[in-house]
Amino acid sequence: MTTDAPMRTAVLISGRGSNLAALIEAARAPGYPARLALVVSNEPGAGGLAHAAAAGIPTAVVPHRGRTKADFEAALQAALEAAGIELIALAGFMRVLSPGFAQRWAGRMINIHPSLLPAFPGLDTHARALAAGVRLAGCTVHFVSAEVDGGAIIGQAAVPVRPDDTPDSLAARVLSAEHRLYPACLALVASRQVRLEGGRLDWSATPAEGLLANPPA
Ligand code: GRF
Repeated sequence: MTTDAPMRTAVLISGRGSNLAALIEAARAPGYPARLALVVSNEPGAGGLAHAAAAGIPTAVVPHRGRTKADFEAALQAALEAAGIELIALAGFMRVLSPGFAQRWAGRMINIHPSLLPAFPGLDTHARALAAGVRLAGCTVHFVSAEVDGGAIIGQAAVPVRPDDTPDSLAARVLSAEHRLYPACLALVASRQVRLEGGRLDWSATPAEGLLANPPA
């Protein structure tokens, strides 16, 4: 935790927003180093917008349809600047951001992905993990780089794969881990205990190995 002012953080979503809800809950704790100052959705109907509204967090809808990626990202950037955002947390945000946008926010934008990267980047991770026969699945929080799901890894949580798992049952188990991992990793970045240096992680404190390998239930 830090004595600095909480870092003004935007959460970008496209859907139901269960990770957003976990971040909202965590950020209520006294001393949490991030303040959720804005929630942005590219989908007007995203269920997660209701979580933000219920928590009194300002929301913005920046639609991607009917405009170029450049126009979309310019509108996104304008919304972020208007709210004085310092840090971005992608939470089920289903648009691939351009290398230019990723570069502009390098070291200040993080994402959660439902696999143990670098295994299974991209979509349909749980079906692909089951098809591959892995015995451990999990989730990863990483800095966002120009490569999709390819930036420096901040934290990971592993869960077992059970013989009778379906993509849905595995997704549910991973999602529970996501809800513990993401608030812990956002806190590490917002408190500057980890930074991005030369494309790699720079720790200012000893990594909390137990927490990041297997967040407490
Ligand atoms: C999560 O599984 C997240 O890892 C992935 O998209 C899903 C979003 O779920 N990027 P939610 O909207 O946070 O419930």
